[in-house]
Amino acid sequence: MLKISVIGVGSISSMHIEAVQANAKAELVAFCDINEARLKEKGANYGVTQLYVDYKDLLANDAIDAVIICTWNDSHVEIATAALEAGKHVFVEKPLSRQMTDEARKLGDLAKTTDKIASVGMVRRYADNARVLKQWIDQGNMGDIYYGKASLLRRLGHPGGWFGKQSISGGGPMVDLGVHLLDITWYLMGKPRPVTVSANTTNYLGGRDHIGYLSAYKAADQLDEPSDVEDFANALIRFENGASLYIETSYAMHTPQDELLIQLAGSKGGAVLEPSLKLITEANGVILNAEPQMDYPGFHEHAYSREIDAFINACVEGTANETPIADGLTVLSMLDAIYQSAGQKQELRL
Ligand SMILES: NC(=O)c1ccc[n+]([C@@H]2O[C@H](COP(=O)([O-])OP(=O)(O)OC[C@H]3O[C@@H](n4cnc5c(N)ncnc54)[C@H](O)[C@@H]3O)[C@@H](O)[C@H]2O)c1
Repeated sequence: MLKISVIGVGSISSMHIEAVQANAKAELVAFCDINEARLKEKGANYGVTQLYVDYKDLLANDAIDAVIICTWNDSHVEIATAALEAGKHVFVEKPLSRQMTDEARKLGDLAKTTDKIASVGMVRRYADNARVLKQWIDQGNMGDIYYGKASLLRRLGHPGGWFGKQSISGGGPMVDLGVHLLDITWYLMGKPRPVTVSANTTNYLGGRDHIGYLSAYKAADQLDEPSDVEDFANALIRFENGASLYIETSYAMHTPQDELLIQLAGSKGGAVLEPSLKLITEANGVILNAEPQMDYPGFHEHAYSREIDAFINACVEGTANETPIADGLTVLSMLDAIYQSAGQKQELRL
């Protein structure tokens, strides 16, 4: 039985905690959070009695085999590195780090050499629509994929709190939402090597806190300071194989409705992954738009338990680590280049 602990027991941790509890190969043994009240509450809710306010004390417990890290972005690299060094398997939430640093690169090196599983939380890869499309692509149905387009625009969706604090989050919607868009599109395109990035970021609207009559998601802990992250970002990424990817994302924008689109174009066919899977091809001089008949043709929460099940299987049974930290590092290098390009107002070569 794999003994798992969760470090950082805020909002997203519940998905992972419940996935561990439902998995017969794992046991939930300890929690850690710097917020003691939340730590106690979460412990009581889930019947976990080993509670730590300092992750170092948790890592010193030899009975713990694996950790799931769901802290703020600024501590992912530090805690993941310490956990691997302490001999634990690691699942760390996205983004791997709030920015590219020597420490993040060292974590990448450590993840390559350790015999422990080191995974990053790229949950969209585990959704049914992504699985079906990946198989479709791998069987050559799309030919050479030369374009990816990923768009997630919120009119009113700045979570506030630490999400709006550059020093903790590392950025706004591009780090928070763009990381998912980038990862899933790049993964489905066959993980080509990024070579140039041209990007823009703006912050005209902030949190739009004065807007009424419309509800919006808010982080648990709000701060009395204005957001200093971008509210909109876009980027064009070119890859070594000649393919390109356009990404745009916002926390706040004057647009008639929230938008979500993840689309791929190839030499033999196309696909829309989100909001709902569509396969585009042609036959006998006719364009065919196929809609796979599935319970969940769009992203569904079941992907969260799938990713934890896959992590547990990799730790216990040695199955493939489908979201290695090396991938998180490549996505981080693209995010980093996006912010650098936007800051310098010019195209950047990686
Ligand atoms: N994969 C996804 O779809 C998804 C969704 C939401 C959040 N996330 C990621 O999960 C992470 C957590 O997000 P959240 O929305 O749960 O945030 P949150 O603020 O609700 O929870 C984070 C918790 O971590 C604790 N914490 C912070 N630093 C710590 C440290 N050094 N040691 C111990 N505890 C610490 C905080 O006190 C808080 O309770 C973020 O990195 C976020 O990007 C991923």
